[in-house]
Amino acid sequence: MIELHTLESDDWPLWRELRLAALAEAPYAFGSTLADWQGFGDREERWRARLSIPGAHDLVALLDGLPVGMASGVPGEEEDSVELISMWVNPVARGQGLGDYLIQAVERWASDRGARTLRLSVMPDNSKALALYERHGFMDTGEPGDLLSDGVRRERVMAKSLATV
Ligand SMILES: CC(C)(COP(=O)(O)OP(=O)(O)OC[C@H]1O[C@@H](n2cnc3c(N)ncnc32)[C@H](O)[C@@H]1OP(=O)(O)O)[C@@H](O)C(=O)NCCC(=O)NCCS
Repeated sequence: MIELHTLESDDWPLWRELRLAALAEAPYAFGSTLADWQGFGDREERWRARLSIPGAHDLVALLDGLPVGMASGVPGEEEDSVELISMWVNPVARGQGLGDYLIQAVERWASDRGARTLRLSVMPDNSKALALYERHGFMDTGEPGDLLSDGVRRERVMAKSLATV
């Protein structure tokens, strides 16, 4: 059974556990690195601040009661856009629809708050994530994403129009 929990800043230990696992397991997928969030970077107030972004929606997915996935929706640069970030599903739980579930939940939340566009950035060679996003109707915007550490490639910026209520 899949359940979703919306997190508040007091839930930072759970977010921390999942986020550190995500950065360790899938370093190819994220702009942040494990090193950014370890040692001096690993402080309660920092995790609390991450879960206190104004207007954001932070979700953890539980599979049969165990926390195995995460995603956030955060306000975008444009007033009517929202960004999907921090998407990760533990390898033990992949291929069971948790990714679908998380995207749909962020999409519902974004529509409810009146957003017209859901945007995301993805590494150009992250084929699993690209397939998932394309399956959900995200399309390449053609905008240049953040430059990667090789100084050549860039993240791909994708967007999906949301149904307005
Ligand atoms: C990308 C990622 C979030 C996908 O998570 P997921 O939970 O495996 O996603 P889903 O289960 O919804 O879909 C994945 C596959 O399982 C299939 N699937 C979904 N539900 C299924 C079910 N009930 N039974 C069988 N297969 C199913 C999907 O069709 C999909 O197949 P495809 O890869 O051949 O298209 C996960 O691989 C991940 O965390 N990767 C590392 C981090 C990452 O890349 N994050 C994105 C940063 S932009």
